[in-house]
Amino acid sequence: MADLTSDFVGIKSPNPFWLASAPPTDKEYNVRRAFEAGWGGVVWKTLGAEGPPVVNVNGPRYGVIYGADRRVLGLNNIELITDRPLEVNLREIKTVKRDFPDRAMVVSLMVPCEEAAWKAILPRVEETEADGIELNFGCPHGMSERGMGSAVGQVPEYIEMVTRWCKENTRMPVIVKLTPNITDIRKPAAAAKRGGADAVSLINTINSITAVDLDTMAPEPTIDGKGSHGGYCGPAVKPIALSMVSEIARHPETHGLPISGIGGVTTWRDAAEFMALGAGNVQVCTAAMTYGFKIIEEMTEGLSRYLDEKEMGLVDLVGRAVPNVTDWQYLNLNYVTKARIDQDACIKCGRCYAACEDTSHQAIAIQPGRVFEVIDEECVACNLCVDVCPVENCITMEELAPGAVDPRTGKVVEPDYANWTTHPNNPAAQAAE
Ligand SMILES: Cc1cc2nc3c(=O)[nH]c(=O)nc-3n(C[C@H](O)[C@H](O)[C@H](O)COP(=O)(O)O)c2cc1C
Ligand code: SF4
Ligand code: SF4
Repeated sequence: MADLTSDFVGIKSPNPFWLASAPPTDKEYNVRRAFEAGWGGVVWKTLGAEGPPVVNVNGPRYGVIYGADRRVLGLNNIELITDRPLEVNLREIKTVKRDFPDRAMVVSLMVPCEEAAWKAILPRVEETEADGIELNFGCPHGMSERGMGSAVGQVPEYIEMVTRWCKENTRMPVIVKLTPNITDIRKPAAAAKRGGADAVSLINTINSITAVDLDTMAPEPTIDGKGSHGGYCGPAVKPIALSMVSEIARHPETHGLPISGIGGVTTWRDAAEFMALGAGNVQVCTAAMTYGFKIIEEMTEGLSRYLDEKEMGLVDLVGRAVPNVTDWQYLNLNYVTKARIDQDACIKCGRCYAACEDTSHQAIAIQPGRVFEVIDEECVACNLCVDVCPVENCITMEELAPGAVDPRTGKVVEPDYANWTTHPNNPAAQAAE
């Protein structure tokens, strides 16, 4: 079994799977059971400043998007930060950390954007012997209207300022949790780095309304006839999170800044993808809320098996795919493929035909007996037929060898890499050296 021991900004854990700051980490009972199940660490549900705790709605706080099999694809919530008293949370954090010294215990914090408020809470968290703090600059609802959460995370100058306050006032590593509700994720990440952050974590939830009840005409979840935007998470947000993680990993200003990857991690494979794109570890919320803590077993076993198969250490996986993320203009325009249908696997449903005929390039013909065949003269290799075909691997994309003639363009496939920057159709093309 591969060694999954993780060291993220000096915080050690037996595996790189942490539970994200959310209901699974809201109290001792949950965190204790999570650790017993095998989770490597937790980010404790966000604590607020001393004083009366926040108040949650008493009606439904979740909305959901299902797949056709009623599997949860996306979850929306209007929950706030912890609604339990600060002292109770701090006491429980200390007890659990004492009983599980080998697990990562990071405490998420969100207090008003004033230095005094941060200075007041940091020593109290230190006193619990937690391993680090995560600054919640992400929640898009409820707290942002009070000048916290994503209201801070959307202003890079505030991120830098608060991060610096924290670094100046604590010995604990500072992880800055970013909101995806922003145009360019590299800006807040760079600001966190300038402020001295040890790492960034992302993504927090995405602003969303999951559905509207067409009888009551109210957004869901509905509280006494009204609804409010909430934060979206779960498998549906993974592509957005992966892209944002990769942008931070490859941007010169933030390259090398440790990243904790969050957003839709449900299986070991999701985790491995985040790590390949630059995340040093991952955090999980929706998958645990949907399936319970036991999913950690699939995650650790699967990742370990994969690393063994690839003869790779955990640290070797981190960032491995980053060099292969590029901008569009650098993609190889001499790479030519065509769709190929495996007639033995085809169930003759006709979905590829409908998609290509109606919305793509009229490159699939129906022959007698409902035999579907690709017309190479028309196929632009868009991949749509592969995406809509219900039978896995029934349609594949086959590369044309250099020297072959592409029947669509009549041109010989060149062996050399060539991209848009030097293409003759590009008005801004630089002449090839
Ligand atoms: C019900 C709920 C409550 C959450 N509360 C917090 C919170 O208090 N602090 C925080 O930083 N993130 C909070 N989050 C966001 C998660 O930590 C995580 O960033 C997000 O759900 C994406 O991960 P996932 O796709 O694995 O769920 C919450 C998420 C949910 C679903
Ligand atoms: S790859 Fe695109 S163009 Fe080619 S057959 Fe499939 S859908 Fe049509
Ligand atoms: S979508 Fe797939 S299974 Fe259906 S007809 Fe096309 S190739 Fe066959």
